[in-house]
Amino acid sequence: KILILDFGSQYTQLIARAVREANVYCEIIPYHQSFTFEDGLKGIILSGSPFSVNEEKAPAVDIAAFIQRLPVLGICYGAQLTAKCFGGRVDKSNKREYGRARLQRQKDDVLLKDISDGSQVWMSHSDSIVALPEGFEILATTESIPVAAFRKTGNDTHPLYGIQFHPEVYHSTEGKKVLKNFLVQICGCKQDWTPASFVTETVAHLKQQIGDHQVIMALSGGVDSTVAATLIHKAIGDRLHGIFVDNGVLRKDEFEKVLHTYRQLGLNVKGVDAKGLFYGELKGKTDPEAKRKVIGKLFIDVFQEESQQIAGVKFLGQGTIYPDVIESVSVHGPSQTIKSHHNVGGLPDTMHLELVEPLRFLFKDEVRKVGLELGIPADMINRHPFPGPGLAIRILGEVTEEKVQLLQAADDIYIQELKKHNLYSTVWQAGTILLPVKSVGVMGDERTYEYTVALRAVTSVDGMTADWAHLPYEFLAHISNEIINNVRGINRVVYDISSKPPATIEWE
Ligand code: XMP
Repeated sequence: KILILDFGSQYTQLIARAVREANVYCEIIPYHQSFTFEDGLKGIILSGSPFSVNEEKAPAVDIAAFIQRLPVLGICYGAQLTAKCFGGRVDKSNKREYGRARLQRQKDDVLLKDISDGSQVWMSHSDSIVALPEGFEILATTESIPVAAFRKTGNDTHPLYGIQFHPEVYHSTEGKKVLKNFLVQICGCKQDWTPASFVTETVAHLKQQIGDHQVIMALSGGVDSTVAATLIHKAIGDRLHGIFVDNGVLRKDEFEKVLHTYRQLGLNVKGVDAKGLFYGELKGKTDPEAKRKVIGKLFIDVFQEESQQIAGVKFLGQGTIYPDVIESVSVHGPSQTIKSHHNVGGLPDTMHLELVEPLRFLFKDEVRKVGLELGIPADMINRHPFPGPGLAIRILGEVTEEKVQLLQAADDIYIQELKKHNLYSTVWQAGTILLPVKSVGVMGDERTYEYTVALRAVTSVDGMTADWAHLPYEFLAHISNEIINNVRGINRVVYDISSKPPATIEWE
């Protein structure tokens, strides 16, 4: 295992993902959190930071103590902090370096083994190391800065390295190789952290954690809850009781299709048809937050009622993933915010259940790999995200059963055609929105007065920012025809060309 000490860089999670991609397990902790040098801990990486090491309140750690125990690699701020701690000098550089630079190697070293001279690296710093401490040597420079990579020399127990560039970002073409050199050659990591080993270890751990107790879990049809449930099922079989609620605002045939997949996976899942209850409570509600609240609350009611039917439940399974639990280090001092889980959160503490969260340390792409390893069908694994309140926040204004059916029909055409034209996997999320306006159209000799739907498709990495997907005109023309010709009640289709920000992905 590798520990990444986070000083608040926007790239810290990318470092973790790059380390995991090399099949080495790692965890991110805030730089000021204490940790133990447990067996199996092989090295430490210091992240970048929005701070300058020369600021009065600049965050710091005891690097000299670390290298008594383990190899250390400082990245960007981490490298500057290293230089400064040992008596070097870091200054505002005349030339700030942002973006592309070329690495010029000055010395052979295992850290830069197999890295080509002139290799493109990505920089993002306004301070630079202007003088290295005594007993340190330069490994590489760039055109603009004298110290792009360095190491401490001498007889320390463990090596200490610093690099000014960001090996974790895509634009550092050989950055992953540099990280791998550190992990494998310098720290001696074995690269044995794979989806298969994760499954074996996690199942063993779940068996131990759960013992012979019962677990309940709300399933949503999404990737995270499905993978988490499959893992738990592998550990304890039918003592995992899944509950999948039809809230009336799922996609067309979704309830039946997803239940079918669960059965094929051998999961013990109860499907609960609560459509009527949801439609009843949604009646007359037009405010988006009010609709969200109704759906959230009813879901909890249904879930609680169902769980009371199961005797001796001690645990609650959840599909929480790593980005939801990483504590972020903020520029405004070491405050920590923990994001609450978007999807299944909000179950009351009064249920007195202990949490089982087998995906708590996985990134989304890793969850997908583990899912495939578990034999979950690829179309389930590669599904777009779908909001908990479902189509209710894609029907602007009041939700009625008729409107749901109208939207389901249009949405189904859109999604099926995206798949047929091999466009589904090129977008991050797609869906259809039913607008609360009717407009005039003409079909044959008849004048129509019907609804409009908006098509939405976005590209994104994490849903935080997004761009509208540039779907081909021919495809959009085809969808418009298909929807208007096949869904009675819709006579106009528009395409949403707003990015996030300033718009959002959903319309409510
Ligand atoms: P926005 O609309 O905020 O959406 O750009 C970002 C991502 O979050 C999803 N989303 C939700 N998911 N409950 C959810 O579980 C919600 O209330 C909710 N609102 C938005 C949205 O689908 C997109 O993936």
